[in-house]
Order: sequence, then C-alpha cells, then structure tokens
Amino acid sequence: MRPVKRTVLVTGASSGIGRAIARRLLIQGHGVIGISRDCRRFSRPHPAFSCVELDLAKLPDIPTVAKQIQQDFPELDAVVFAAGYGQFGGLEQFSYQQIEALMTVNFTAQAYLTRALLPKLKQKSHANLVYIGSEAALKGSRNGSIYCASKFALRGFSQALRDECGKSPVRVSLVNPGMVDTAFFETLAFAPGKQSGQALLAGDVADAVVYILQAGNHCAIDEINLSPPNKVIEFKK
Ligand SMILES: NC(=O)c1ccc[n+]([C@@H]2O[C@H](COP(=O)([O-])OP(=O)(O)OC[C@H]3O[C@@H](n4cnc5c(N)ncnc54)[C@H](OP(=O)(O)O)[C@@H]3O)[C@@H](O)[C@H]2O)c1
Repeated sequence: MRPVKRTVLVTGASSGIGRAIARRLLIQGHGVIGISRDCRRFSRPHPAFSCVELDLAKLPDIPTVAKQIQQDFPELDAVVFAAGYGQFGGLEQFSYQQIEALMTVNFTAQAYLTRALLPKLKQKSHANLVYIGSEAALKGSRNGSIYCASKFALRGFSQALRDECGKSPVRVSLVNPGMVDTAFFETLAFAPGKQSGQALLAGDVADAVVYILQAGNHCAIDEINLSPPNKVIEFKK
C-alpha cells in the first residue's frame, strides 16, 4: 500500500471476504467504515474502525445512509462492495420474491450505493470503487441462473462505469473469485473441498483488493480473476 492513508467503506465487513479486507486495511493503518445489518457483529473495537448499520435489501434507505456517511467521513475515498449472498437451485425452485431479493442485494443495492456516493468521490484527487464479483460473473453454471445473473449484472455495471469515470479520478475495478472458504456456504447444499488448494482463502481476495487500492491513479486495474488451483465441490448430505 502507498504511504497515503485511505478511508475505505467496506460492505460485508462483518464476515468472510469483506472482513478479511477490513482487517487487512486496518493493519496497514487505513481507516475503515464497515457496513453490516448488525453492528454487534464487530465485537472488538478498533480506533480506526467505525460501523454503519444498513440492510442493503432496503433500497430506499441507501441514499440517506450514504449521505450521512459522507457527512461523517468526508475523507472517504474508496468503497469495497463485498456484501452479498448465494442462493442456488433450478429457476422453478425460486419464489418470485427470492428472485427479487437476490438481485436486489447482489446487484441493485451496489448500483444505488454507487449512485449515492459517486458525486463526492469524483471530487477527490484519487478514489476507488472495487466490486467483489465472482467466477459466476464470467460463465453461467448449473443451478446458478439468478446468482449468475446478479454477478453478470455487476460485471456489466462495473465495465460501463469504468468507462464513464475514466476522465475523473475514480478508478473502477472488479475482483472475481472462485470458491472462497467463508460462511457463504453455511446455508448452501455444497461447499468447497477442505484440503489445501481446493478453495481460496478470504485473505487471497483481500490481497487483490489491496493491490488495486495501492495502484497509482494513472493505472486502471480493470478485473482480477482468482481461482483455487484444484477446484473441488463437496455436496452436503
Ligand atoms: N465465498 C465464496 O466462495 C465467494 C466466491 C465468489 C464471490 N463471492 C462473493 O463475495 C461476497 C462476500 O461473500 P462471503 O464469502 O464473504 O460471504 P459471507 O461470509 O457470508 O459474508 C456475507 C456478507 O454480506 C453481508 N450481507 C449479506 N446480506 C446483506 C444485506 N442485506 N445487507 C447488508 N449486508 C449484507 C453480511 O453482513 P451482515 O450479515 O453482517 O449484514 C456479510 O458481511 C458476496 O458478494 C459473494 O457473492 C463469494
């Protein structure tokens, strides 16, 4: 990381990938604002960490909370969008409400939050928007119709936004991990294999995000794809 101190808003900071990113940034001396639906999930206070409660499923709340964040933390100059969840199965197994909910949290909420924060970020000398996509943003796969759609949407959004922001100081990046060993799989019928090399670690994704944030403003890091070298999916009984 460059010696410049950044102030980074991290969604999904309470668990898995977002948590690893928040911890890594704090260790490096940066300020972190973490978003969670429940700030009690952050049990150990850190002087450079602040929590903001927000349920990303509640779209109308997003502009108001975003405005408050930029009032409370005018130094905010980067956002990492790591909140999201997985739901898999044949399309006919989804209720209409489940389709809407997955698209809302995994895609539409990211667009709302970006829309709300962008005008002030454009006034910075250097700002980053980093989205956590997925290998599901690159290729459709069985039982992933809605999840893949949400991540394809995020990828198209970030590509178009990168172009839109190219003449401003805002750099837009997407990180697409394969399976990462996190709580993401707790509610799913499958999980990555437990042996070394069968899943990424959340810290691997944090490494990629730190690499993006430390790059000079003259350099746009478009996308980083990461995969476990030996992808193994285990189905739970
Ligand atoms: N694990 C993988 O294999 C993998 C691979 C590729 C991409 N990804 C993507 O990486 C991101 C993070 O996944 P993870 O593996 O870190 O999962 P995780 O450990 O389950 O963490 C999910 C995070 O998302 C937040 N979140 C979920 N719903 C939310 C809502 N309605 N409002 C606000 N926050 C919400 C949770 O915060 P609270 O519960 O505290 O609100 C939590 O911090 C997701 O977008 C996922 O699609 C994961």
